[in-house]
Amino acid sequence: MEIAGAIAFITGGASGIGLAIGEALHAAGAQVVLADIDLAGARTAATRLGERAMALALDVTERPAWEAARKAVEARFGTVSILVNNAGIGPDLQPLDTMPPGNFDRLVAIKLTGTFNGIQTFVPEMRQLGTGHVVNTASMAGLMASARLGAYTAAKFAVVGLSEVLRAELAPAGIGVSVLCPGLVATNLAATTEREGITLPAINHPEQGMDARLVGELVLRGIRENRLYIITHAQYLANVTARADGLAAAFADAPNHPGGAIPPEAEISPD
Ligand SMILES: NC(=O)c1ccc[n+]([C@@H]2O[C@H](COP(=O)([O-])OP(=O)(O)OC[C@H]3O[C@@H](n4cnc5c(N)ncnc54)[C@H](O)[C@@H]3O)[C@@H](O)[C@H]2O)c1
Repeated sequence: MEIAGAIAFITGGASGIGLAIGEALHAAGAQVVLADIDLAGARTAATRLGERAMALALDVTERPAWEAARKAVEARFGTVSILVNNAGIGPDLQPLDTMPPGNFDRLVAIKLTGTFNGIQTFVPEMRQLGTGHVVNTASMAGLMASARLGAYTAAKFAVVGLSEVLRAELAPAGIGVSVLCPGLVATNLAATTEREGITLPAINHPEQGMDARLVGELVLRGIRENRLYIITHAQYLANVTARADGLAAAFADAPNHPGGAIPPEAEISPD
């Protein structure tokens, strides 16, 4: 879709990948809303971007706050046509059977339910506009499983599945959907996670991660070309292929029970 003149709403827009997406969209001529639980950070970033940017306080888990955010954006800019559900925290790197349940609940609430809240708030308006695009930030952990990333992986796989469903639902309305699946990116994720009372051991060394600005550029291209999967790290192809091959192999001796056909409107097209 055309970026210039679009109104983009980005959660987790104060920092890291969300901010980089906001910067890329802004540079391409969009008006951008940086929505974040960290209002001070969002304000600093919006001020730096200048005229076509605004900051909003939003905890993506708080449903009533989404409605207030929508009204604030409409009053300032107009109807949102690009939604980026990006806000997130990192994993606590504990095994599923012993991790504190509150860590699991919070991660799922932010990443999965927060994404659903964004869709419920802005997609009905996009349907009325007859155009738009939704980007959901998942992770490479949404395409392959790793031990001790349990809650994170569960939420990210769910976001990939939700995005595939959303794409099938919105294609007839002329609205695109992408799911962003990065590997390690240099951001403030460890500090953000720590703020939630969850210590993220030294997995996220900024110097090892990709420059978030490159991720922002790849997302811009993904929106323009309506790509379903936005992949940033080529080196994980073997892992994802191995998983797909394992799945396919499991079909080899499966019983061929007739019936239960997938309805045609549910078909997924990656292009
Ligand atoms: N950094 C990586 O290596 C990496 C890799 C794959 C996926 N991701 C995903 O990218 C997304 C962005 O993370 P990042 O790496 O840029 O980290 P970051 O900490 O730099 O940015 C995350 C932002 O989300 C905000 N946020 C957290 N909880 C929120 C809430 N409840 N409501 C609103 N805003 C909230 C934070 O305040 C922060 O500004 C996350 O979903 C993360 O899981 C990151």
